Amino acid sequence: MYINPSAAQKPVSIVDLATMKQAGEKISCLTAYDASFSALLDKVGIDLMLVGDSLGMVIQGQPSTLPVTIEDMVYHCRCVTQARQRAFVMADLPFLSYATPARAVKNAAKLMQQGGVQMVKIEGVHPEIITLLVKQGVPVCGHLGLLPQSIHQLGAYKVCGREQVEANKILKDAQTLEQLGISALILECVPAQLAQIISGTLKIPVIGIGAGLDCDGQVLVLYDMLGISLGKRPRFSKNFMQQANSIEEAILHYHQAVKNRVFPTPEYSYS
Ligand code: KIV
Repeated sequence: MYINPSAAQKPVSIVDLATMKQAGEKISCLTAYDASFSALLDKVGIDLMLVGDSLGMVIQGQPSTLPVTIEDMVYHCRCVTQARQRAFVMADLPFLSYATPARAVKNAAKLMQQGGVQMVKIEGVHPEIITLLVKQGVPVCGHLGLLPQSIHQLGAYKVCGREQVEANKILKDAQTLEQLGISALILECVPAQLAQIISGTLKIPVIGIGAGLDCDGQVLVLYDMLGISLGKRPRFSKNFMQQANSIEEAILHYHQAVKNRVFPTPEYSYS
């Protein structure tokens, strides 16, 4: 059995995440929305928690992430950070909450000052906004590939970057985001080979979801990997409850599978 040596150690910092990438240690990440799961994820040793706007779908039962407000996010961030002891916590800036630089700063302040998170996540490439946030001392995580906040432009949740032109654009966008000063990048639903190239090119940690085994870390929506999400589970998400006797064991199996590089297998990846 994998014994997590870091579970009892000091809180994970942004520097630790970068060091893990350099050392080749995979970063385990899950979404969290409340205090009980926050404490459980921490107990298991999950390195990074994401208070995702996926809460709109899995907690609120909305059809997409778009209805989630900054107030919703602050509430769930506070629930998570109050119970967290070790994991680094980041949160999504929800749809249109960073549409202008002023709004981005005001809402990042809410997530960090009221919600207690340590990094904010932004979908897509927004040079002016990211530059301003970074200048103000806000750690920013980028998000490329499938962008759920753009679902009405995309038309469907689908794999991104299969065509060469689109793959080149995602790689170029990732490099641009790194130059703008982001501290980590989420890559969602992209071919494993593209994610491997991006993870190998960037110095910052690249966390994949449906992006293959070669990212620097993995994230899943907690309720998907526990098999309790509403609707159809995405193909890239494995139900870890199927071979576990408890929720804690399922989360531990996921953590071990990420650390030991056995998740995601090709079955849960795209080519
Ligand atoms: O909101 C969320 O949970 C996310 C993950 C899909 C990465 O952004």
